[in-house]
Amino acid sequence: MNVAEDLILELKGITKIFPGVKALNNVQFQLRRGEVHALMGENGAGKSTFIKVITGVHNAEEGQMYLNGKEVHFKGPLDAQEAGIAAVYQHPTSYPELSVTENIFMGHETVKGGIIQWREMNEKAQELLDSLDADFKATDEVGALSVAQQQMTEIAKALSSNAQIFILDEPTAALTANESEKLYGIVDKLREDGKSVIFISHRFEDMYRLASRVTVFRDSQYIGTYDVDGISNADLIKAMVGREITDMYPKEKIELGKEIFRIEGMSRTGFFKDVSLNVRAGEIVGLTGLVGAGRTETIESVCGITKPDAGKVYLEGKELNIKKPEDAMKAGIILLPEDRQKQGLILSWGLGRNVTLPIQDELASNGFNDEKKERELSKERLEEVDTKAVTIFQPASSLSGGNQQKVVVAKALAQSNMKVVIMDEPTKGIDVGAKKEIYEIMGQLAKKGYGIIMISSEMPEIIGMSDRVYVMRNGRVSGCLDRSEVTQERILELSMEQGSSGNGGKTA
Ligand SMILES: Nc1ncnc2c1ncn2[C@@H]1O[C@H](COP(=O)(O)OP(=O)(O)OP(=O)(O)O)[C@@H](O)[C@H]1O
Ligand SMILES: [Mg+2]
Repeated sequence: MNVAEDLILELKGITKIFPGVKALNNVQFQLRRGEVHALMGENGAGKSTFIKVITGVHNAEEGQMYLNGKEVHFKGPLDAQEAGIAAVYQHPTSYPELSVTENIFMGHETVKGGIIQWREMNEKAQELLDSLDADFKATDEVGALSVAQQQMTEIAKALSSNAQIFILDEPTAALTANESEKLYGIVDKLREDGKSVIFISHRFEDMYRLASRVTVFRDSQYIGTYDVDGISNADLIKAMVGREITDMYPKEKIELGKEIFRIEGMSRTGFFKDVSLNVRAGEIVGLTGLVGAGRTETIESVCGITKPDAGKVYLEGKELNIKKPEDAMKAGIILLPEDRQKQGLILSWGLGRNVTLPIQDELASNGFNDEKKERELSKERLEEVDTKAVTIFQPASSLSGGNQQKVVVAKALAQSNMKVVIMDEPTKGIDVGAKKEIYEIMGQLAKKGYGIIMISSEMPEIIGMSDRVYVMRNGRVSGCLDRSEVTQERILELSMEQGSSGNGGKTA
């Protein structure tokens, strides 16, 4: 067969310019019929923008696009939809006040004799949800769903449109390990059905599990396309970052200080039970377990976001009375939340303001807002995490997904009264180069004597960075491992139901 015939989609010489940024510079891409193709690259490399060019959300300044060998020009997303291209974007674009069914069939409702067939659509939507093994209903309101469930809704929507090309922009970033497995199954099935898939992810695991080829973008440019089987991890990272990365986990030996933070007997019915843990000054404590084990829920109660039924929190030996998030923050317990889109940022505000939001009182301590200090401080913090942006004044909404995450990290670091920092999945959605920078920041914080709790499902970073690792299972601490004894097997054992029972709740 002629290779050109084998291509379902081809783009050439695509250039896309935003005010002040060339987001794509003469990039190319080829998608074969029936292949799963990964698109990778650092935060801000242009991946999401490229997807939006394909789906007609953005109009490229230059370049051509061919579908089944014929040149096409999409004026908007509907054109792409009609041409058989379905996309699930990095941030859910659903309508929160509408039902799952309404969201799924938005724009292609089933109409008979001029009447919208709600019952039929509800049934079809439910069938789609069932095929995805979803744990919510077609009649649920989307706004009440978790991020993962909203993502699932968008995937169901893509499936409902009978598309030939599916584009998934970081679909696993919001998913639990279980849900990711489910998604892998769905993508496998799409491939078996002869569909073509473009898949963006920062997780190498996703690429190895799903893709046969990978295309890398760097700094808005096309770097290359490789067979997944034919390229080493190190070479792929080099293609993405432009340099070699050695020593991903720069963990230094630090003399640990006194206990700085302790939680005792934390319980919340239905979520977690009798959780105790402690952290010493300069210590990085990993908190892991299968997603759904109650890690985030526990920490949310510790930080006053939800009300626990029982439990005590001690900071530097003194018991705290945390009733609301501000209480925790004022005491110096800083939470870097997992769902940063929703909880972390005001998208319409400039980056700088977002970073200094928690310290506005401090900046205005002489009765006027010290704008110079604010600018300097936010700039410094944003540079520390290597945020790719033009100025501190551009709205957070104009940043790439991963760079938005970095702004939230910068914001947490701006808080001068910080004593303990709790990071929930701190490197989720963040590229490999920036991951290492975040680990370096964690190391610096530890050196300065802060206590650090890192919630993470990523085994390598838990093992690479933690002094001690608490493992949770079914809402309880199933064990605590010292750095010297922590291995992937031990963690898995403690995470799984059938594993040994561990030494529940041991503290150092
Ligand atoms: N609507 C917009 N307005 C202005 N600039 C934008 C807009 N969308 C994206 N950009 C800029 O274009 C560049 C590429 O962003 P894009 O979102 O495509 O990156 P990405 O590769 O998807 O990154 P990530 O892995 O962080 O999601 C970035 O510099 C970003 O700030
Ligand atoms: Mg993106």
